[in-house]
Amino acid sequence: MAGTDGTVDVQLSDTLCHGAQKTGMTREEVFRYYDTWADRYDKDLFDLNYNGPRQCAEALAEVLSGNKAARILDVAAGTGLCAMELIKLGYTNLDAIDGSQGMLDIAQSRNLYHRYICDFLGPRRLDIQDDHYDAIACCGSFSQGHLKDDCFPELIRIVKPGGLICIAMREEFLHTVEAYRDKLEPAMVTLEEKGSWEQVARDIVPNFYRELNGVIFIYRVLAQT
Ligand SMILES: C[S@@+](CC[C@H](N)C(=O)[O-])C[C@H]1O[C@@H](n2cnc3c(N)ncnc32)[C@H](O)[C@@H]1O
Repeated sequence: MAGTDGTVDVQLSDTLCHGAQKTGMTREEVFRYYDTWADRYDKDLFDLNYNGPRQCAEALAEVLSGNKAARILDVAAGTGLCAMELIKLGYTNLDAIDGSQGMLDIAQSRNLYHRYICDFLGPRRLDIQDDHYDAIACCGSFSQGHLKDDCFPELIRIVKPGGLICIAMREEFLHTVEAYRDKLEPAMVTLEEKGSWEQVARDIVPNFYRELNGVIFIYRVLAQT
């Protein structure tokens, strides 16, 4: 229920947002949580001043340099907030993957993507052929109990050599999420040392979520030898 200044609403939105990131949730519990939250997810994230999708889309568009036909996979796409921003910028060749069918149903009702894949990302093969995409956008999905570095090799497999992977997340999570602290960026570096990808950018952006900074990583996939 809204208070006169909307404070109660924002508190509830914040509580619901935290509910998806509780330590110890199984992957199935996370997806079930999103299935239930899906109907009001956009309203809550709007109230929480979530600018990540726009920032992620703009960062990816900048490195795609006007290639509006680029085939892009929105990874952990949710209800399609990032796709809506990509479409505003003229990028319409979009597919989505997410583990929550409820979130994908909202995206599908908006007709944002060609393909809607309900599956989870981890250390496993997806039903997507090698070198299929020009780019990946992944926004707000590196968070407690969500994606981990174990999905990187699969993201690299499905992106063409020369293609781009854009990962946008809350900066603080690099340090506060146990699965990422001293692990996420070192895993990125290891893949760079192996010649799997090269870093194009690592930018800190303000007000990614509420007043909190985001970090946007962009990697270019290299030809695998
Ligand atoms: C905070 S939402 C972000 C959604 C969208 N990218 C956005 O910015 O609004 C996180 C999404 O990641 C999905 N997710 C979490 N872990 C996942 C995994 N291992 N595989 C696939 N989807 C996952 C959830 O179902 C949820 O839709």
